[in-house]
Amino acid sequence: MRAVVLVGGEGTRLRPLTSTVPKSVVRLVDRPFMAYMLEWLARHGVEEVVLACGFLPTLLREELGAGERFGLRLVYVAEPEPRGTGGAVRFADEQLDGGLGERFLVLNGDVLTDLDLRAQIDAHAASGASATLALVPVEDPTAYGLVRLDPRGAVTGFLEKPRPEEIDTNLISAGAYVLERSVLDLIEPDTNVSIEREVWPRLVGEGLHGHAHGDAYWLDIGTPRRYLDASSDILAGRVRTAVRERLDGHGVARGESCEVAGHVHGPALLGDGCVIAAGAVVGPGTVLGHRVRVEPGATVEGAVVLDDAVIGRGSTVRDAIVAPGAQIGADCSVTGGAIVGPGVLLGAGNTLDHGARIFPGVELPDGAIAF
Ligand code: GDD
Ligand code: MG
Repeated sequence: MRAVVLVGGEGTRLRPLTSTVPKSVVRLVDRPFMAYMLEWLARHGVEEVVLACGFLPTLLREELGAGERFGLRLVYVAEPEPRGTGGAVRFADEQLDGGLGERFLVLNGDVLTDLDLRAQIDAHAASGASATLALVPVEDPTAYGLVRLDPRGAVTGFLEKPRPEEIDTNLISAGAYVLERSVLDLIEPDTNVSIEREVWPRLVGEGLHGHAHGDAYWLDIGTPRRYLDASSDILAGRVRTAVRERLDGHGVARGESCEVAGHVHGPALLGDGCVIAAGAVVGPGTVLGHRVRVEPGATVEGAVVLDDAVIGRGSTVRDAIVAPGAQIGADCSVTGGAIVGPGVLLGAGNTLDHGARIFPGVELPDGAIAF
């Protein structure tokens, strides 16, 4: 079976993490985010994945190649201009020899999940639906597509980004669809079409079904908060991924040539060549990329610190993201979902909190920010 993965969005809400790389190849724990989706699809028997890109896929191709290491074939399709979630599927169908086939999968490209696609494909075949949406429960549906369902699994209402007063169920569309070819007829060619706003509402009562995945792990990684949650959930094994196999009995994975004089408390993952100085602490839920240096007396906890970053003497980084090549000076405090962008130089004694974002190229002098 073929699957189209939509990777055309710009990932603006994850900036500055996505200032220099697209969301689908942003590193999550130890691999590009898209690797999790591809490993999940391969586990469910998908043999070919079409990456539907709204931009030139040069970086994507460099990172993911032809797909062999994920056990499937990767095909790249770039829209002349972003066509929207529906337009992108139609465009991909037109670009492929033989099209997408009679039945295929469509996936949003920013979701970390281990939901059982096989069960959904079986339910789709049994019901005779023309489209079956994966459904998951969430606390607040306002950021998603709300789905009303009848007892037989037919969708009776689809509301993209519902207003609070419209919410009467916690089930939302998880961004994983099984589609029959006939759905493509509802998408006008060469046009920007939103599948959520233009196609699903028209299919309500006309063969649109939902399949609830009650106990699966599911997370849209599109915001810094959820990116941090995804990292710690992967380390803790709350979602089924290949990363867990790398952790030892203490829940720690250590790359090659690390020098650890301080303490590491799992679950935590250290890339190659990390240096944890004496008196430094790497606490639970932490991901360090390659060649990260944590200086004496510094603490990193529940945080993601990417390649070549430096955490200065006596500093604390908790519940925050430090992008590749950023340098945190001595005695800083970076907490509360803050993001320090790629290559940023943070002078000594700065405090970042409350989701503060520092963009690439910025150099902050000593003591410049104290919340
Ligand atoms: N190729 C292509 N072209 N891809 C696109 C385009 C486009 O023009 N626009 C968006 N995408 C991709 C994004 O990269 C993302 O992977 C996916 O389509 C969904 O777009 P988002 O911008 O992330 O949408 P959302 O998160 O607000 O809402 C969607 O996902 C929710 C679940 O996470 C909707 O499908 C909701 O109904 C759903 O509940
Ligand atoms: Mg999204």
